[in-house]
Amino acid sequence: ATTKIEEVDPKYKELILTLPKEDQWLAIELRKYGGFWYPERHFSGVLAMQEVFKSQPSDVIIASFMKSGTTWLKALAFAVLHREKYNLSSHPLLKLNPHDCVPIIEHHYATRDEHYLESVPSPRVLGTHVSYSMLPDSIKTSTSKIVYICRDPKDVLVSLWHMVTKFEWFNKPFPFAKAFELFCEGRMPYGPVWDHVLEYYTKSIRSPEKILILKYEEMLKDPSDGVVKMANFIGCPFSEDEMKIGSVEKIVELCSFNKLKDLDVNKNGSGAGNVPNNYYFRKAVVGDWQNFMTPEMANTLDEITKEKFSDSTFTY
Ligand code: A3P
Repeated sequence: ATTKIEEVDPKYKELILTLPKEDQWLAIELRKYGGFWYPERHFSGVLAMQEVFKSQPSDVIIASFMKSGTTWLKALAFAVLHREKYNLSSHPLLKLNPHDCVPIIEHHYATRDEHYLESVPSPRVLGTHVSYSMLPDSIKTSTSKIVYICRDPKDVLVSLWHMVTKFEWFNKPFPFAKAFELFCEGRMPYGPVWDHVLEYYTKSIRSPEKILILKYEEMLKDPSDGVVKMANFIGCPFSEDEMKIGSVEKIVELCSFNKLKDLDVNKNGSGAGNVPNNYYFRKAVVGDWQNFMTPEMANTLDEITKEKFSDSTFTY
């Protein structure tokens, strides 16, 4: 789901071509706007989304920084919100990748098929990687809910580097040390990661009814607790009867890494932008950074994280 700059609506193209550019992430060219680096091929979609997108009061928006657990949260939110509609044995998540159940808003604007979003039955679950400050007013001011997931930046970087280097057609080496350097400077798709988290976190403190922050590491430790919290937050709490018959655990199982990863659609299929679905499923552990970073690198990233959140109560 991408658009070449030549194909972009002229009113956005003119602006995009004036923005600072970063072209070291292999073929993912970035443009900086409002303090964040956006993939150039999606940025017209971000601008159009901001200008045109109309949120419905019942929307649930899954917001995240890339590689923070988006695929998992999309699956969970979709399964929770539509649990009365679908039987677990013939569930859409058994046939479709979570990104095909929960579309990314800006990608549909970038490819100019935003009408698709209107065809999604309400209540909709929609995804975005856009920073809070760049969200359309219609999301900010409607009664729609935002669920945001974040993850230790060290593991985000490792996951992102693996994803980027999987695109074989780039045919260029991309050493981890280079990705690390760019990441530390905040030059990463949708980055800097810290500012992304801070914007959503700060807003969630002021408006806890609007934004729920979930942490990947806590979700891995106790996924049922995260699912119950999310269900309460989006206004469809599990009843006592549902709790008794293990509805929460059944959803956790349906959306678990091992279950989703081994489905035919996720092993062999591909989705938006022809990205093979198996790229979204790698290891799903906490602390894989230890296999790719020197202690010095880890320390540098931790120091940046500490500094970035020094005025905030947020901790990973
Ligand atoms: P790793 O690369 O560390 O394994 P995103 O969905 O935001 O792109 O994030 C991808 C990360 O989430 C990958 O991390 C991936 O393995 C992990 N992931 C994907 N599906 C998951 C699931 N059902 N449960 C837990 N983690 C999952």
